[in-house]
Amino acid sequence: MTTITPCPVEAFDASPKDDLLPFSARLADKGREWYHAFHTSLRKATGWSDYGRWSGEANLARSWDARTRQIGALIRPKTTVIEFGAGRLVLKTQLPEGCAYTPCDLVDRGCGTIVCDLNARVLPRFPAHDVAVFSGVLEYVNDVPRLVAHLAGTVQTIIASYAVKESNRRYRRSYGWVNDYTSAELVDVFEREGYRRERDETWESQVIYEFTKIRRIRAAKDAPRQSAT
Ligand SMILES: C[S@@+](CC[C@H](N)C(=O)[O-])C[C@H]1O[C@@H](n2cnc3c(N)ncnc32)[C@H](O)[C@@H]1O
Repeated sequence: MTTITPCPVEAFDASPKDDLLPFSARLADKGREWYHAFHTSLRKATGWSDYGRWSGEANLARSWDARTRQIGALIRPKTTVIEFGAGRLVLKTQLPEGCAYTPCDLVDRGCGTIVCDLNARVLPRFPAHDVAVFSGVLEYVNDVPRLVAHLAGTVQTIIASYAVKESNRRYRRSYGWVNDYTSAELVDVFEREGYRRERDETWESQVIYEFTKIRRIRAAKDAPRQSAT
């Protein structure tokens, strides 16, 4: 599998100050941008995930914690929560009283992480939970409709952030993002699986959605009951 040098999102931030950079620096930036875009396109075509980027913590930015705090505030007490792409497990510390937390990620993040590649050919049967959270993760999933269909029988509520195409048009492949939904298209993916959009909030240029299943799913029998803290 090809491993690439991780690319912090900020590396390709096209701000006016770029005009002040010397030509050689701008050329180097462009080269890096194209290199990452090429590798993302390759991963998208082959279905691979970026283990090189996500192993370890170096590429898990602390600036994302504000998004996680905003998501944590949407979760009700005493619910069972599974977080996909759990990263530094910040959500665990933001849950209200009486919640149970299960992290799931491409790589082992500790605390009983369910290690799972969301781009794998076959997805495992995840233990039922009340709420599934995706914070900065759907952008790296090759087949979002398949994932939502897979969760539809086991998760009542899905809270997901997404960098919608309307406000994040440029550099998508350079950032490693493998899909390009507008807000309406993403909502449609969830609605087709019986979810209703309950709310959306903005976080920077992204949207945080809360979807709930229109028909109630049977009680989450196999969900863990231990406390989150
Ligand atoms: C942008 S980080 C977000 C981390 C955390 N949710 C946050 O907001 O701080 C993306 C997370 O998704 C995970 N991830 C990326 N590709 C994945 C895949 N194919 N399957 C499962 N997890 C993946 C990464 O390991 C990482 O933890």
